[in-house]
Amino acid sequence: MAVTKEQFRRWLASFAAGVTVVTTRSADGRPYGLTATAFTSVSLEPPLVLVCVDKKSESHPHFLASRVFAVNFLAEGQEHYARRFAVSGGEKFRDIPFAFGVGGAPLLQERLGFVECRAEEIVEAGDHTILIGRVVAGDAAEEKRPLLYFRGAYYGI
Ligand SMILES: Cc1cc2nc3c(=O)[nH]c(=O)nc-3n(C[C@H](O)[C@H](O)[C@H](O)COP(=O)(O)O)c2cc1C
Repeated sequence: MAVTKEQFRRWLASFAAGVTVVTTRSADGRPYGLTATAFTSVSLEPPLVLVCVDKKSESHPHFLASRVFAVNFLAEGQEHYARRFAVSGGEKFRDIPFAFGVGGAPLLQERLGFVECRAEEIVEAGDHTILIGRVVAGDAAEEKRPLLYFRGAYYGI
């Protein structure tokens, strides 16, 4: 029997995940980004990570065109970032401090940490695209704690 969308959503909602804002830039230099939990490390040598981006998102074509992205790890108390970047389109970066990183992707100044990447492989996977990126820069604020997402709600640890 085929798995329904409802089952898939319910089962996957029970997997607790850290919350990120994955960002890129358009050819004319505008910042784009979206809230994402589909992020994981892939390889230590070379240093690779992946993110899965919905093909229907406004940001999607800009990830493919620029082939650069940053994964900003949200900290406890940054639910407002998660909510802002989960609404499609609009001026998401308005009043949000950020700077372009060495690879060209926007880095949120308020964050737990980040990795900045150049896409090495782009893989079609159903209604999403998997971006496999080589990490070229990053940091982590050891004193901060993460924002988590579990069954439709945000938590600290
Ligand atoms: C907690 C949470 C996790 C999400 N994870 C992903 C994800 O991993 N990949 C993705 O493409 N969209 C994910 N989304 C949905 C996007 O954030 C949402 O579609 C966003 O509006 C797309 O923005 P855009 O159309 O402006 O690019 C998630 C949303 C939430 C609330």
